[in-house]
Amino acid sequence: MNIATNPGSGDFAARFALTKEQLLARRNAKWSQYAPDVIPAFVADMDFAIAPEIQAAIRTPVEAEDYGYPMRDGQKADRAVAAAFSRRMARLYDWQVDPDLTLVLADLVQATFAAVMAFSEPGNGVIVQEPNYPPFRAAVADCGRHFVPMPMAMTDEGYRFDLAELEARMTPDVRILILCNPQNPTGRVFSRAELEALLAFAETHDLVVISDEIHSDLIFDGRQHLPFGALGLRAMARCVTLNSATKSFNIPGLRTAVMSFGSADLKDRFECRFPSRVIGSVNTLGIDATVAAWDLGDDWLSGLLDHLQAMRDHMAARIRAEMPAIRFRAPESTYLCWLDCNDLGIEGSAFDFFHDEARIAFSPGENFRPDAAKMVRLNFATSKEILDEVLDRMVAALRRNAR
Ligand SMILES: Cc1ncc(COP(=O)(O)O)c(C=O)c1O
Repeated sequence: MNIATNPGSGDFAARFALTKEQLLARRNAKWSQYAPDVIPAFVADMDFAIAPEIQAAIRTPVEAEDYGYPMRDGQKADRAVAAAFSRRMARLYDWQVDPDLTLVLADLVQATFAAVMAFSEPGNGVIVQEPNYPPFRAAVADCGRHFVPMPMAMTDEGYRFDLAELEARMTPDVRILILCNPQNPTGRVFSRAELEALLAFAETHDLVVISDEIHSDLIFDGRQHLPFGALGLRAMARCVTLNSATKSFNIPGLRTAVMSFGSADLKDRFECRFPSRVIGSVNTLGIDATVAAWDLGDDWLSGLLDHLQAMRDHMAARIRAEMPAIRFRAPESTYLCWLDCNDLGIEGSAFDFFHDEARIAFSPGENFRPDAAKMVRLNFATSKEILDEVLDRMVAALRRNAR
C-alpha cells in the first residue's frame, strides 16, 4: 500500500505553500545560498510548512524545556524511531523489520559512507547508478574505493539499467551495490522484476546492497514502492536499508535517519568496524518529529503528493509546449526532474546559463554524472506561483538566447 493521492484538490497548497518572502526569511541552504534575486530549484528541500502533527510533537519538549538525555517508553529514545520505522514498513508494505536490527543515526549520507567502509576494503569496487545523487560518488572516492558505474540509459520506456553491460564491467573485487530506489535524479521507481534481477546479480557476485529509499514516500500515478529487503529472506541476507522522514516531511535539519540491517550477521559485521559509540545518537527533537511523521503524518503526506503530482504534470506540460528542445521524462517519484538541455544550443554549462541568464539555481548536471554539464536537475516542490516563475524565466532566457 502507498499513501493515496487525489490530484488537483489544491487544498494542500492553500494551507501549506510558503511565499517567496516567507522563504527568504528562513535560514536554510535552499533560500540562502544564492543571491536573493535567484530562485533556488536545487537542493532537495521543499517550500512548504511542515505537518501540524510534527510541529506539535516538537513543541512538547520545547515548551517543557525537556532536553535531558532522552528516554521514551522506558528505553533510550532512538528505539522509538526504530520501532516507528518497523510499524511503518509493516503497515505500508507488509514488510517485517526487526527494530533490534535498526540503528538510528543522523543522516543517510553518513550511513552510506559508513556502510561502504564497513562492507568493503580500500581499492574494492562499488557499483553506483549513474547519473547519481552526488554523495554516492563521494562515498566511493573519499573512502578510496573504485567507482563502477551502472548507467541509467534513456530508452523508449524511460530510464533503464542493463545488467549484461554491468556484468562486462565486473571485477572480482566489487563488493557493494549502492541502490537508490526510487532513483535520484531520474525519478525511476523500480519494478519487482528489476529488483529481482538486481538481487540475482548481487547473489552471483556476492554483493552487499545498500538500498537508499529516502524518496520512497514520494510515488506518483498509483505506482507502488517495493523496498529491496521486502523481496524476502534472500534479499534481507545481503541488504542494508537506509531511510528517514526528512525528504517526504521536509525536516532534513532535524538530522534523524535509520540504517536497518537485513540480518544480525550484517549488523555484527558493521558494528565490528563501527561500535555504536562511534555512530553516536540523535537529538530529542529529531526523534519526536520522526515518530510523529511516520505514525501521524499520512494526511499531510497525501495532500503533499496531490500537489507534487499536479506540479509535475504542470511543469511537464509547459516544458513540452514552450521548451520542446528540452528532453526529459516526467519522474515516477521524487520532486526532482532531470532535464537534458543538450539541444538548446547554449554555450557553457546548463547550470551557468540558467543561473546567469534566468536567475535560477538548478542542481548542475555534472554533479550527477561528470559528462552531464548540459543537464540540470529541477526541484518542483514549491507553489504553482514560484514554479511558474521558474518556467517563465527559462522560456524568456531561451528566447533571448535564440535571437
Ligand atoms: C537519494 C538521497 N539520499 C540521501 C539524501 C540526503 O539524506 P541525508 O540528509 O539524510 O544525508 C538525499 C537528499 O537529497 C537523497 O536524494
